[in-house]
Amino acid sequence: KNKGSLPFNLILIGFMGTGKSTVARCLGKKCAMEIIEMDEEIVRREQRSIPEIFQQQGEAYFRNLETGLLKELQKETNKIISCGGGAALRAENVAEMKKNGKVILLTAEPQTILNRVKYDNSRPILKNRKTVADIAELMEKRQKKYLAAADLVISTDNKNIGQICEDIL
Ligand code: S3P
Repeated sequence: KNKGSLPFNLILIGFMGTGKSTVARCLGKKCAMEIIEMDEEIVRREQRSIPEIFQQQGEAYFRNLETGLLKELQKETNKIISCGGGAALRAENVAEMKKNGKVILLTAEPQTILNRVKYDNSRPILKNRKTVADIAELMEKRQKKYLAAADLVISTDNKNIGQICEDIL
């Protein structure tokens, strides 16, 4: 599907547990494109986990790392960039994404998200959010910003991953 090289990046955004990393891997295979996992890249550079970064330096520090990394990444094209769930919340970051990227928003119902993330302790933002209502409340707060950033919106509830990738392509 991607014989040459795309003159832009495919940027996956959306709430935690909407499937950004899974979809990135599938798209990467289908298109033979390099994948950048922003969270992984930040962990590698910081030599500590996301919960440790939040705990030791605070959320603002992490958000600044995201902004810096996004800026760096837009210098190149033909990559799949899987963002952390908060990356599209800063207007500055979205402006950066738009420079060189097609922004794909993945969505899912709060119940679906809870099912996907409930045994995972790697997300500081969900530490005290353990119910569907908690997830729905935070999603509601973020949704406008996610939608405003998106060039394309794809729901991931009850769909197989191959189909989701075909829809995106
Ligand atoms: C966050 C989402 C996480 C990670 C960090 C903060 C958020 O990424 O960047 O824990 O604020 O939504 P995932 O969306 O991959 O879980």
